[in-house]
Amino acid sequence: MKYAHIIGWGHYLPKQILTNDEIASEVDTNHEWIFTRTGISSRRIADKSETAATLAFEAAARALTRANIHPSEVDLIIVATSTPEYIFPSTASQVQSYLGAENAGAFDLSAACSGFVYALDMATQAIGTGSVRNAIVIGAEVMSRVLDWKDRGTCILFGDGAGAVVLQGSSIPGGVLASTMHADGSGGNLLSLPAVYHNPIPALGEEFLSQNGTTKNTIDMQGRQVFRFASRVVPESIMEVAEKANWNLDEIDLVVPHQANVRIIESVSKKIGIPMSKFFMNVNHAGNTSAASIPIALCEAVDAGRLRPNDNVVFVGFGGGLTWSAAAVNWLVLPSEKQPRFLDHEWRRMRYVFARQRAKLRQWSRQIGARLAGSPTPDASLKDGKNKK
Ligand code: COA
Repeated sequence: MKYAHIIGWGHYLPKQILTNDEIASEVDTNHEWIFTRTGISSRRIADKSETAATLAFEAAARALTRANIHPSEVDLIIVATSTPEYIFPSTASQVQSYLGAENAGAFDLSAACSGFVYALDMATQAIGTGSVRNAIVIGAEVMSRVLDWKDRGTCILFGDGAGAVVLQGSSIPGGVLASTMHADGSGGNLLSLPAVYHNPIPALGEEFLSQNGTTKNTIDMQGRQVFRFASRVVPESIMEVAEKANWNLDEIDLVVPHQANVRIIESVSKKIGIPMSKFFMNVNHAGNTSAASIPIALCEAVDAGRLRPNDNVVFVGFGGGLTWSAAAVNWLVLPSEKQPRFLDHEWRRMRYVFARQRAKLRQWSRQIGARLAGSPTPDASLKDGKNKK
């Protein structure tokens, strides 16, 4: 049996801070309302040059440094995101290129705010079968690009960022011990984002969108119903995954929930009887970063000394789809097989610069090759069907 251990973790939050007061200067709301209803004070907003892929790269690079493995040792990259720059190439493929992870397969996974936990399960299964040894699992979002900044019911909630973990297969028991995944598509209308958000079909424009039933290319949410759904499924998920891992609830040392709303987690804590002190929350300064929220919170929990070796931690996600999922992880960070080298961090950054230059060179050489080779169908008449009998 191969166990999937988390051997590295890293997160990245954009520099720009957007406070509740700043939002209140644009829409009819105020800090008091937002803070008391959600627990959020501020969130980070990506600048124009940043995308889900660049945020994901930053988080993955930090996680690889912590894991002390080289990008060429990575076999699989999964990015959970609802805000990719492109449908294809996937965000994961972009990250693969930015890292120069030449031996990795890469794909995106779409399960909204549950995406990171879903992706963690996929990578764990791949490690369990032996087809993958090292995997990077990333949650990355630029939610600020898919919000209607005039809709006070949604724009106050979300933020941008990315978090990543490196998983490694080992025969030592521990790591991701159990996971659960659920979906209920009948509730898809409660939290939705049309797929035309990034490039809203400029040639077709508003007219096309209105004729096709929507002028909206931003998040639509029925807050109260989502609140009720989350308060129901989160306790169920924690109990289900704890049972699968053979843990009693009091053996759970820390729960890292999807960071949507402190009141949701307070209601979960009451229902399930796990004290609030065992739930790690950072929604106050990060907002809801969708698929990125759990890995970002995990990194901050480690930095805050909230996780000790051999602790039992539960990740629990919920969101659009509707989807919900949980993972039970025995936090047993294995000692690195290699010692970090002198100026390791600087060397790594230089390698990433080379990786980008190499990707550009490949693009140019492909273009030149295509020009020199000419048309792949030199006898164009074949295409016209003139030679058909
Ligand atoms: N500022 C001030 N007032 C606001 C407001 C805002 N930002 N947003 C809504 N209101 C008003 C409403 O218009 C309503 O006014 P009314 O009573 O005069 O009609 C009132 O506040 C109550 O609205 P309601 O939507 O019932 O508030 P709520 O207590 O349910 O809080 C949410 C709204 C969005 C904070 C809450 O429903 C929530 O957090 N839901 C879960 C969302 C979530 O987690 N989504 C992501 C899941 S991954």
